[in-house]
Amino acid sequence: MRGVKMHRNLSQLVAVSAILALSLGGVANAGIELTKHNMSSGGINSTIKSVTGGTGTDEICIFCHTPHMNVTKGDVLPLWNHRLSSGVASYTMYKSATFNGADNYGTLQSVAMGAPSDPANLVAGNMSVTNLCLSCHDGTQAVNAMFNTPNRLNADPIMQGGSGSGSAYIPTSSNAYLGTDLQNDHPVNFTYAVSRSISDETLRMEGVGIVQYAGETVRLFNGTVQCASCHNPHADYVTNTEFTPFLRVTIVGSKLCLTCHDK
Ligand code: HEC
Ligand code: HEC
Ligand code: HEC
Ligand code: HEC
Repeated sequence: MRGVKMHRNLSQLVAVSAILALSLGGVANAGIELTKHNMSSGGINSTIKSVTGGTGTDEICIFCHTPHMNVTKGDVLPLWNHRLSSGVASYTMYKSATFNGADNYGTLQSVAMGAPSDPANLVAGNMSVTNLCLSCHDGTQAVNAMFNTPNRLNADPIMQGGSGSGSAYIPTSSNAYLGTDLQNDHPVNFTYAVSRSISDETLRMEGVGIVQYAGETVRLFNGTVQCASCHNPHADYVTNTEFTPFLRVTIVGSKLCLTCHDK
């Protein structure tokens, strides 16, 4: 991890990333350290981040992952370390007269999504990568609430710049705040193939775990559309601005949308 040396080597790093970006074409380079998802004390673009010194942390990944879970792990999770939004019984989901995302086609459609309190409950069927994002972005959980705290600290790091208790929550005023009402957000947590099979509009054919078009690729999770179908939470969109914010596919010419939608 180059996070610690980042300040000194920033211009160098940016230059190297720019060369990489050229050589990789349309691929969103990983490079989380420059983004708002670097909530460590070394984060340079995050408004909410750890304090510097003994009560903070300079670790980046720990806010979302740990090498050793200390709770039972569900089988769909990438070693998830951030406490889920246990206080939310359900989210209000997208619906429209033409949305085919629910399996019971015919009525006004919506797809329900619970908020499991424990990653062990995030299993196929009930599973959702979206729950991982909402564990910070619904604003009900502190960003520093971890299952397994850093060994050097043995506590959640002290934060600054956020709102609420411990200045650790995404504020309602932030554009990163989605809340628990997702009616005004692109639908998530529904089966892509079901929509495609019953939609009179056109969606591209899916492959195993992906949808591809014109050299671009988005991801499906267990065949479903999730936040991380469109977003890559590690993408360095600071260097490659066409991937702003954390996009998997460039938004230039709406390429991201056209990867799934044949419009
Ligand atoms: C703000 C939260 C967040 C941070 C910080 C974060 N990740 Fe992730 N990571 C996720 C989420 C959410 C997923 C699952 C969705 C996906 O695969 O894109 C994931 C998936 C992964 C995966 C498995 C799937 C894949 O895309 O390869 C790996 C490996 C991974 N992260 C490594 C890391 C490492 C290493 C770091 C630190 C340098 C890190 N992550 C920091 C949120 C985060
Ligand atoms: C991962 C694939 C995927 C990507 C990428 C994607 N969508 Fe969708 N979108 C879907 C699916 C599947 C549906 C559900 C279609 C249905 O059931 O009618 C949907 C639904 C919608 C709807 C609502 C349709 C309705 O009938 O209510 C709109 C509008 C929409 N998408 C616009 C966009 C835009 C704009 C983008 C780019 C920012 C985008 N989508 C990116 C898969 C995707
Ligand atoms: C551990 C907490 C945490 C998790 C988990 C998390 N985020 Fe974030 N995210 C943040 C914070 C903090 C910000 C910046 C908030 C601010 O500056 O007001 C942010 C910002 C963003 C932004 C806006 C970036 C910008 O430049 O405005 C997007 C998009 C985003 N996150 C997407 C995601 C997605 C998608 C996931 C899941 C795949 C996810 N996040 C998971 C904490 C998190
Ligand atoms: C269909 C693709 C798609 C899905 C699914 C999706 N997003 Fe986004 N999201 C985008 C795009 C594209 C933008 C940027 C829009 C622009 O700049 O034109 C964006 C913007 C954002 C922002 C910045 C604030 C804003 O309103 O622009 C946040 C935060 C965010 N997304 C989080 C999430 C979370 C959390 C989820 C899951 C609940 C999610 N997104 C699902 C495509 C998607």
